[in-house]
Amino acid sequence: MGNPLFKKKPMDLLLREAADTGEHTLKRTLGPLSLTALGVGAVIGAGIFVMTGLGATYAGPALTLSFIVAGFGCVLAGLCYAEFAAMIPLAGSAYTYAYAALGELLAWIIGWDLTLEYAMGASTVSSGWSNHFVELLQIFHLRMPLWLAYDHWTAVATAENILARAQVHAADPSLIVTTKAFADQVGALLKTPSADLLSQAHALVGAPRIFGFEFGFNLPAFIIALIITCVLVVGIKESANFNAAIVIIKVGVVLFIIMLGLKYVDTTNIGHSWAEFAPNGFPGVWKAAAYIFFAYIGFDAVSTTAQEAKNPQRDLPIGIIASLVACTILYILVAFVLTGMVPWRSINIQAPLAVAFLDHGLSTASTVITAGALAGLTSVMLVMLLGQTRVLYAMANDGLLPRKFFAAIHPKFRTPYKTTLLVGLVAAIIGSITPIDKLGDMVNIGTLLAFTIVCIGVIVLRYTNPNQPRPFRTPLVPLIPALGVMINVYLMINLGRWNWARLIIWLAIGLIIYFAYSRHHSRVQQNGR
Ligand code: ALA
Repeated sequence: MGNPLFKKKPMDLLLREAADTGEHTLKRTLGPLSLTALGVGAVIGAGIFVMTGLGATYAGPALTLSFIVAGFGCVLAGLCYAEFAAMIPLAGSAYTYAYAALGELLAWIIGWDLTLEYAMGASTVSSGWSNHFVELLQIFHLRMPLWLAYDHWTAVATAENILARAQVHAADPSLIVTTKAFADQVGALLKTPSADLLSQAHALVGAPRIFGFEFGFNLPAFIIALIITCVLVVGIKESANFNAAIVIIKVGVVLFIIMLGLKYVDTTNIGHSWAEFAPNGFPGVWKAAAYIFFAYIGFDAVSTTAQEAKNPQRDLPIGIIASLVACTILYILVAFVLTGMVPWRSINIQAPLAVAFLDHGLSTASTVITAGALAGLTSVMLVMLLGQTRVLYAMANDGLLPRKFFAAIHPKFRTPYKTTLLVGLVAAIIGSITPIDKLGDMVNIGTLLAFTIVCIGVIVLRYTNPNQPRPFRTPLVPLIPALGVMINVYLMINLGRWNWARLIIWLAIGLIIYFAYSRHHSRVQQNGR
């Protein structure tokens, strides 16, 4: 193909870069266990602790089936990632693979698209983290002003919910609100004769106005994202140890949920016929699968640490597949337990697992789960932000982004500190002013696109570069990647046209940058090296 837009990065150059151990490169410190822990650390998070709730409203008890469907799609994509990760162990992950297999334009598109997965994924999770933090404060009878605890839209929705529930439980508002001052405020608002619920909610939020607009800022989400950013600037080894400790806690909590929860499963909740089990049929199962797909995102982040792995060709496939399989099994069991413990129509949407245990009078267990979720979400953010900086680092090294900034390595910590600080700040700001569900949907569609391109890339490279050594081979090519493409595209279709529109706008912005800057600075284009 002579068109420069489809110029591929030569394989021998990629392998030389992978072997480079100069002082401007990243430190190689991660073994198979750290890599698997990094994968699990990225995967178990808001998806299982939060999104299962809304997922259950789409699929009913068949949520278990949705987890199987989404997990199957991810395993297919994971097998394709593993082939690439072992063959081209470089930091850029799907971006680098696309550069080798499909050419520069598609590589740029996927690199740009990955920011949806990683940076916006981190924002989404920071917002979910904040929700759990606010929950935990309430256990200790502490309450933040709503305008400082949520983005503006979520703050108003939460206030409406508090007021509506306080009306129902008028006899005892302390059931609903945690401090006397707040209970008094709610009580006074409910007595305002003429105001409707919405204006009462705005009054309860009490947001300051900036340029005439009410302002909501999720402070906990902002702060946690900045703390994680600082951890990442200091270094990958330290980050990996921090991550491993958290992973142990959260896997422990998930096992606790499964083992204790199994005792409370009532088969009548799961249903005795297909109609009871899947009240919305297969469309409901697929819709939920597209939504809870978020729970699986992150295993691919393992491949972005390729240049920090001690033996990437052996350990990256292990890290990717082991973390994915482990999480799939855990998720299916959690979905079964949740839909067995609580009738699907009564499953809570904000904190479904913690509240399911509360419904059975197990308040200590519920607190343990809330604390575990907080720890779990922390490590997800860590890996997401890590992944984002490594993709940008790879793009900058190829000249597609300004190298001086995006590929600058800290002289002492040997981390791409400028990119890390920029990405951390952007993720912190977006997470603190945007509602979590909107962010989550964007992350899903962006990630599914990346998975689809990686699956296609495996097939293309098998034909265009068949003799390249492949330390790990995706089995049954082209069947496995082709099935991966079909399932992932079908999940994208289930996310609806608004998300497609947002994705297309995002990609259009990316293309403008590519044609205005990247194409003219591409190192592969400039000297063919
Ligand atoms: N899979 C990650 C989570 O559920 C992104 O939080």
